[in-house]
Amino acid sequence: MESDTPSGTTQNDPPELDSLLETAWQAAQTGVRESRHGWHQATIASNGPDGMPEVRTVVLRSADPETRSMGFHTDARSGKIEHFETDGRVGLLLYDRALRIQLRARGRATVHRNDPLADAAWAGSSLSSRRCYLAPHAPSKVLPVFSPNLPEDLLHHIPDEATSEAGREHFALVRCRLEMLEWLHLRHDGHVRARFQWDEAGACTACWLAP
Ligand SMILES: Cc1cc2nc3c(=O)[nH]c(=O)nc-3n(C[C@H](O)[C@H](O)[C@H](O)COP(=O)(O)O)c2cc1C
Repeated sequence: MESDTPSGTTQNDPPELDSLLETAWQAAQTGVRESRHGWHQATIASNGPDGMPEVRTVVLRSADPETRSMGFHTDARSGKIEHFETDGRVGLLLYDRALRIQLRARGRATVHRNDPLADAAWAGSSLSSRRCYLAPHAPSKVLPVFSPNLPEDLLHHIPDEATSEAGREHFALVRCRLEMLEWLHLRHDGHVRARFQWDEAGACTACWLAP
């Protein structure tokens, strides 16, 4: 990795760019596994049809440094799917209050509905997660009266595996391939901020940023 500025920090134990990137991916993988980790939930930004930014919370489902991608699951009928199928540009934001670390990223999102990646993600989904995809109405549909948008018999139960399969047609995996990742660690002895950027050939440029 090439660094385009010298690492000038005033800290006694100055961080290193390479290890910082590794730490970021490791923390994201911990976020995927551990529901109490601050990075278990990500804020995802898309561009809406009127060009306005749209943001929402999702559960971070995968983080893979090899493919530089982070993934989440969603209802294929939801508005964000149309956004990403029209314009793949995506923003991601993760913040862990305990670690005091923010990860800000952007990249390109691809939607997977009926391919081996989506099949594998569905196969690995818990029955309680699968219940969401049995919703009778498409997310964001305007309803004439209140409805929690779940089948009546599943309001207080999770479906069995056979029942859950009806949700498969509504399930989608969204994979975000990162082009830029920015780390901000709030520290009492001086905040640490760095940016990593990849070009089309996959070469990474890293630099420190003023926090
Ligand atoms: C804690 C939390 C976790 C959520 N996780 C997901 C998720 O993993 N996938 C998802 O599609 N929506 C998730 N949502 C709901 C979204 O934030 C959003 O309301 C919904 O997906 C509709 O978004 P859209 O209209 O932009 O498509 C979550 C909401 C909260 C509050």
